[in-house]
Amino acid sequence: MIDEKRFKLVDTKTGKEYEFDGIKGSIGPDVINISSLYKKTGLFTYDPGFTSTAACNSKITYIDGEKGILQYRGYPIEELANSSSHLEVCYLLMHGELPSESDKNEFEEIIKNHTLLNEQIIQFYRGFRRDAHPMAMMIGIVGALSSFYHDSLNIEDPEHRMIASHRILAKMPTIAAMAYKYSVGQPFVYPVNKLNYADNFLHMCFATPTKEYEINPLFSKIMDQIFILHADHEQNASTSTVRTAGSSLANPYACLSAGISSLWGKSHGGANEAVIDMIDEIVLNDLKPKDFIEEVKNKKNKIRLMGFGHRVYKSYDPRAKVLKKSTEDLFKDLKIKSKELEIAKEIEELALNDTYFKEKNLYPNVDFYSGILLKALDIPTTMFTPIFAVGRTVGWLSQWKEMIEDEEFKITRPRQLFTGNKDKSYKKVPDREKKSIFNLLWLKKTFLNNQ
Ligand code: CMC
Repeated sequence: MIDEKRFKLVDTKTGKEYEFDGIKGSIGPDVINISSLYKKTGLFTYDPGFTSTAACNSKITYIDGEKGILQYRGYPIEELANSSSHLEVCYLLMHGELPSESDKNEFEEIIKNHTLLNEQIIQFYRGFRRDAHPMAMMIGIVGALSSFYHDSLNIEDPEHRMIASHRILAKMPTIAAMAYKYSVGQPFVYPVNKLNYADNFLHMCFATPTKEYEINPLFSKIMDQIFILHADHEQNASTSTVRTAGSSLANPYACLSAGISSLWGKSHGGANEAVIDMIDEIVLNDLKPKDFIEEVKNKKNKIRLMGFGHRVYKSYDPRAKVLKKSTEDLFKDLKIKSKELEIAKEIEELALNDTYFKEKNLYPNVDFYSGILLKALDIPTTMFTPIFAVGRTVGWLSQWKEMIEDEEFKITRPRQLFTGNKDKSYKKVPDREKKSIFNLLWLKKTFLNNQ
């Protein structure tokens, strides 16, 4: 792995020089191996948010943020999104290559055999408040799986890792659909294994004991495409969370629960729901997209244009391009007009031609069109991020497995630049200064909410 390229760090005060190896990837930026930096110099690097840090090596997903390229195991996302199926992509991400016909059939059969949840797990849902967000339930239920499958918790055993991965991949749509059913007070609908992954998910979300759900093949194709587009995205926040949790040798159910938690935030997967909230607000308050853009730009209210910008993409997110086309095709096919789509397109047009967004390289990301597309499929807004989680499950699992199997694998333990107090002496209570940090009114409110 070591490249002949070497880097020199010079302490300009003392003139001391330190050398570091360069490491070449197969594609993309090379890295400077600074793992010996502290030993050699007594210094740490400082990189909040890891904007310049490669935390691991990986063979799974490649992104070129400048050119807007995304590849899973070397295959362009556009080809996979338009020609493959989600389970085929799952196989590709987990095993490194597209499956042969028999491997594909076998894999699909295995996944189908794990779709059911243990009946006791289903009891867990009843402990949640009726108005709980499906993501809150998913975090709890996925974590709870670790109390059920003791036969696959030895993460050092490759067979256990594989069985646990198959289980999680198969059960995630069931878990998400049941969270939705619970939140709307409908009976849970069990998986039907003759259906494919996307159809089964739609069936579990929308069938009722009184009415069969007629699967629209177009809806099913789009749902599958959404799963593919969300399947992996290298070391994003939730994947890094899964890797960090897994680095302590925690079991995969616990790690995935941590990943779902991280995904929920509106800077990450929660953005697809936030895009629709933003558009609804524009419609509700009869705002002009132009005025809304100005509000974002003036930064006074710290409003961000949701579904825009990305840490890695400094050009149009290739996933957003695919979804924009699918959105337009769907609306043409269904012959429907949508105020949301009109507003989204106007916002996009304004932002792409505005200096603020141009200078900061802010383009639509995957969440900009996925929300509008999901809304057109009649998917409730609270299910947008759970759908992202269902799609991303395979990415989390593949990255977790890759990490455990990496010879350089170590527990994740970043260091810090300490800026706090030092060497203080303990004071008895009467000797301390009063500091009012609690607001009484607010405290009363939280007591009431706790009942
Ligand atoms: N609207 C307005 N200004 C923005 C936006 C936005 N959406 N995104 C970034 N900026 C500005 C930001 O204010 C900052 O300006 P300045 O340099 O003047 O301080 C500059 O651009 C750089 O922003 P940053 O927050 O340092 O960039 P980041 O790489 O840390 O953040 C991001 C990336 C995705 C969190 C951010 O672009 C954002 O908050 N976007 C909106 C939320 C969103 O759509 N998230 C989904 C991301 S894609 C799917 C996923 O990963 O789950």
